[in-house]
Amino acid sequence: TEAFKNLGREDILTAFAVKSCSNINVLKILADLGAGADIVSEGEMRRALKANIPAEKIMFSGVGKSKQEIIYALKHKIGVINVESEPELELIAKTAQELNVTAPISLRVNPDVVAKTLPGISTGKKGDKFGIALDLVRDVYKKASKMAAIDLKGLDFHIGSQVFDVEEFRPAFEKVRKLLCDIRSEDGLAVTHIDCGGGLGVPYHPHETPPNMQDYAKLVLDYFGDLEVKLAFEPGRFISGNAGILVSKLLYEKQDSDEWCCLIIDAAMNDLARPAIYGAYHHIVPVQDNTTKPIKKYDIVGPVCESTDTFAKNYTFPQLGQGDLVAFLTAGAYGATMSSHYNTRLDAPEVLVEKGAFHIIKRRPTYDTLFELEMI
Ligand code: LLP
Repeated sequence: TEAFKNLGREDILTAFAVKSCSNINVLKILADLGAGADIVSEGEMRRALKANIPAEKIMFSGVGKSKQEIIYALKHKIGVINVESEPELELIAKTAQELNVTAPISLRVNPDVVAKTLPGISTGKKGDKFGIALDLVRDVYKKASKMAAIDLKGLDFHIGSQVFDVEEFRPAFEKVRKLLCDIRSEDGLAVTHIDCGGGLGVPYHPHETPPNMQDYAKLVLDYFGDLEVKLAFEPGRFISGNAGILVSKLLYEKQDSDEWCCLIIDAAMNDLARPAIYGAYHHIVPVQDNTTKPIKKYDIVGPVCESTDTFAKNYTFPQLGQGDLVAFLTAGAYGATMSSHYNTRLDAPEVLVEKGAFHIIKRRPTYDTLFELEMI
């Protein structure tokens, strides 16, 4: 927001990607700062509304919105639904008609660009399941413009996550700008809203530097600044990634040979799934200052019964004693939100540290709450 303000654009909407960190108390802080929400389910919309994010600042992405979710979104006056296919457009139009409302929509374009990212989180390439193929968008846009129950706002796109070099956005910006101009000049239709998605990277390694926001804002305005459109963005990780850590405790040090030693800690892949799923790196540091302790190489693993429950291999770390704490950095995004109860492990409590004070913002559940739904 600041970067755009510096360039004279005050009217942008930053809709936080709730999937990256969905605790209602965190959403409340963002709501107070004026953020909207990018949601992908009815559950996330319920969270955003509970956090007092105004409905008109909420946008709904995702390829498989159910009718029930569409009804919920329309009844609660969602700002915009990002439509990802033609059949979805038809269902939204039909549902809006049944409810006697108009549905504000935008078409999600698949701009067919390759983002340099972790395999598994690219989203803007032909063959990815996301968005409407670039060469079909104009036809779908024309069709949508004729539907009485549809209030057609514009276009949106998202090319993937962990983008460091803002230049990677350029090909997508170029294609979407051309598309927008064709829709206006050749099809004579209005486009009043462009949503550039999220995907701005955060440093997981200490040697990485985050993308430069001023460069990003400038690039966006080079392509869309003169088009008289409302600009929206859906950053997740860039906001939440480095706002959170995962703290865990050493259970055992296990030494099998001179060459191999592992630290078994009490966090596991069910708490932080990214290393197991994507081979993602999280920097791990001792919480206490152990600089005088001998440094060794360790595998750092959790208690879950899977070999992939390994956070790091051959990791250089000072020797710890049982009960010592370690912290996984950059765990604020896609950490708690991707956690599970695998191995019937309870969720980690969530603690908000704010202005020198801390508050528990999610309690650890009890086993009874976990089992309740299975009681017949
Ligand atoms: N908008 C859309 C339509 C998205 O699909 C996503 C992320 C975002 C915004 C926010 O992206 P961000 O700014 O956070 O990169 N679980 C993976 C990341 C999956 C991202 C999915 N979509 C991970 O842990 O790296």
